[in-house]
Amino acid sequence: MSPPDPMRSANAIPLLGLGTYPLRGAEAERAVAMALELGYRHIDTAQMYGNEAAVGRAVKASGLARRDFFIVTKVDPGNVSASRFRSSVEGSVNDLGDPPDLLLVHWPPPDAELDAVIDRLVEAHRAGYCRAIGVSNFSVALLRRAAQRSPVPLMANQVEFHPLIDQSKLLAEVRRLGMTLIAYRPLGRSAVLNDPVIGKIATKHGRPASEIALRWIVQQGVAAIPMTAKRGHAESNLRALSFALSEDDMRAISALGAQNRRLVSPSTTAKRWDE
Ligand SMILES: NC(=O)c1ccc[n+]([C@@H]2O[C@H](COP(=O)([O-])OP(=O)(O)OC[C@H]3O[C@@H](n4cnc5c(N)ncnc54)[C@H](OP(=O)(O)O)[C@@H]3O)[C@@H](O)[C@H]2O)c1
Repeated sequence: MSPPDPMRSANAIPLLGLGTYPLRGAEAERAVAMALELGYRHIDTAQMYGNEAAVGRAVKASGLARRDFFIVTKVDPGNVSASRFRSSVEGSVNDLGDPPDLLLVHWPPPDAELDAVIDRLVEAHRAGYCRAIGVSNFSVALLRRAAQRSPVPLMANQVEFHPLIDQSKLLAEVRRLGMTLIAYRPLGRSAVLNDPVIGKIATKHGRPASEIALRWIVQQGVAAIPMTAKRGHAESNLRALSFALSEDDMRAISALGAQNRRLVSPSTTAKRWDE
């Protein structure tokens, strides 16, 4: 057996990707082109972001072979009904120019509809509209239900994940199910970048706080998808793959999760992760 690839998760998702929300049009196209040129091989988009066509254009213009990059897109909550699911995914495939590597349900549907939505995701996979399927913003309980329902293994759960939120129970469940966790909002905005513990570790390593936060994520085998259209930031974020944090540094950063500072939909659409 070959040793694990330090650049990819256990099921071969490139650990450092480019987030693309809220980039649109020419700006999104330029950012994706820049990222691919720098060596990014994982691009995160969604029907909701309105930039799948821009992502598709940039990927095509890159000249990279299809097997050399990993595209993730997500079905909008407004498109999960029986009448819209498949046509929305057809639209994504057309805009991207090719079936995505990974198709996610963007947010959990109401409980009563969960099984039917997972069935539609599986049908899309069977029909060849994507190479793999997964979910986003699913709590432990919802993830178990989805995994039980799907005859096709789910590849990933994309959720808010950064040093100031404790997602250890969810990560344990994702691993138990043989899936990869993909971290959105990985830089946690200023809350993470100005944290004094991360700042101290950053000074010790002679690196910006952003690289420390991203390294803490990828060192756990979790993929991270920071968004930026700035070349300097994109280059720096990629450097998270090329150094290591000590066990003590990892523990000190993990302890910050007790602050429980969820930044995306703290009380509305997102369920309690651990339930
Ligand atoms: N599944 C979901 O429900 C969901 C929800 C939210 C997000 N997402 C996905 O996850 C991606 C990332 O999440 P996010 O955009 O919310 O948060 P993020 O990537 O943690 O933060 C983005 C912000 O960080 C800044 N930044 C990037 N690199 C930096 C660096 N090296 N130093 C300092 N600042 C830096 C960017 O500003 P500059 O432009 O100045 O670089 C931008 O303002 C999104 O783009 C989207 O693709 C998914």
